Amino acid sequence: MQVIRVGMLGLGTVGRGVYKILTGNQDNITSKVGATVEITRILVRDLSRPRPVKIDPDLLTDNPADIIESPEIDIVVEVMGGLEPTLDYVLTALKNGKSVVSANKDMVAMYGRELFAAARESGVDFLFEGSVGGGIPIIRPLKVCLAANRIQEIMGIINGTTNYMLTKMTREGSDYQQVLAEAQQMGYAEADPSADVGGLDAARKLAILASIAFNTRVTLNDVYVEGIEKIGAQDIAYANELGYIVKLLGIAKETAEGIEARVHPCFVPHHHPLASVNDVFNAIFVRGDAVGEAMFYGRGAGELPTGSAVAGDVLDAARNRLRGTCGINCTCYEQKMIKSIDQINSRYYIRLNVQDRPGVLASIAYAFGDKEVSLATVLQKHTRGEQAEIVLITHQVRERNLQDSLKLVQQLSSVYTISNVIRVEGE
Ligand code: NAP
Ligand code: HSE
Repeated sequence: MQVIRVGMLGLGTVGRGVYKILTGNQDNITSKVGATVEITRILVRDLSRPRPVKIDPDLLTDNPADIIESPEIDIVVEVMGGLEPTLDYVLTALKNGKSVVSANKDMVAMYGRELFAAARESGVDFLFEGSVGGGIPIIRPLKVCLAANRIQEIMGIINGTTNYMLTKMTREGSDYQQVLAEAQQMGYAEADPSADVGGLDAARKLAILASIAFNTRVTLNDVYVEGIEKIGAQDIAYANELGYIVKLLGIAKETAEGIEARVHPCFVPHHHPLASVNDVFNAIFVRGDAVGEAMFYGRGAGELPTGSAVAGDVLDAARNRLRGTCGINCTCYEQKMIKSIDQINSRYYIRLNVQDRPGVLASIAYAFGDKEVSLATVLQKHTRGEQAEIVLITHQVRERNLQDSLKLVQQLSSVYTISNVIRVEGE
């Protein structure tokens, strides 16, 4: 029986999952691949750290050359994360003819072009199913099963931490700071939660999805990003009253004017399939011209779910090596225009804190009308003394016009604050 030798860079959360799956399911994997897939070396930072997985200490090394330069290794599994020194290690491994499997969305979202070029040069695989949606199969479905479609739209809940927080805020009426502290206690949010709550984690994943969906290189810098930091309990309550639920969505659309790639909180109608995706679960809704609507749902993070996606890629790369071939490389053969946020069309929810006196609503409506922003719903509630809270939902309007109208509204002496503006999607 032939042996395919795997070297791992990292033995943290995902690395442990990969190790458990590849060693625990070995018989099954051998039958499926037609060779033994063996983990022969694992790079860690700290050799003395106790490991919560039973492992032969001789497998561990703190010298990357033992893996990326070793002629023994066929496949490198990169699960150490970050850009430095990871990118160098991965490029070296590819240059040395090793297939590479990675779950590193930071690296793929920024350096996809370079990674694919290095893999193509060596005639090996660079696979990254675990980088988006944890255990949910989405990269391969887009590249293979849906390849004959023209993808029109992808809308996804692709960050579990923020989905957990928004679900809690919706169910319990709790405020942002309270649920963030709970998410940290539960181990969902990191000690520094800024990449999750600020939308950056989702933006990296969206850049990867958009690149594949539209065959155009979309990097992290092309994605418009807003996080959930400004979402208040009031916004969640208004959403509910108006028939919506608040979700942090990654949205990629192809329109006649170009590609949209954006991550921001959204009002999503209660009846939309993404509205019922709760807690740490992720879901990716895809619309293709042939398949219509399809949704991929599951656990977007964690040891075994992400390990499942990474191990699946290892099997794929192993089969390809046995056949002396490699799978699909870069699919970015087009260079479509990427729109700026000013150019998108959306409906908007706007919450204002205003003076409660005659004529105020008329002056606000006039300011919106002046920039051709048409209002669909107006609510006035929570009047306190001289102050009232007004909530508006607009019809579809260009973002540029909305922003211009908000500048006029802000200048009105009767408007104290524009408390929040949230896009309405999925109608
Ligand atoms: P982690 O728990 O922090 O593990 C990182 C591992 O890499 C550790 O074993 C660490 O060694 C090792 N490492 C880090 N820097 C190193 C260096 N410079 N030299 C040698 N070893 C180094 O990370 P993780 O959560 O498993 O995430 C790994 C990757 O998967 C990241 O790209 C992440 O974005 C991605 N991902 C994670 C999840 C998830 O649920 N966690 C889901 C999807 C994708 P020590 O053990 O000695 O410290
Ligand atoms: N931090 C991510 C999330 C998991 O909360 O979904 C890793 O991709």
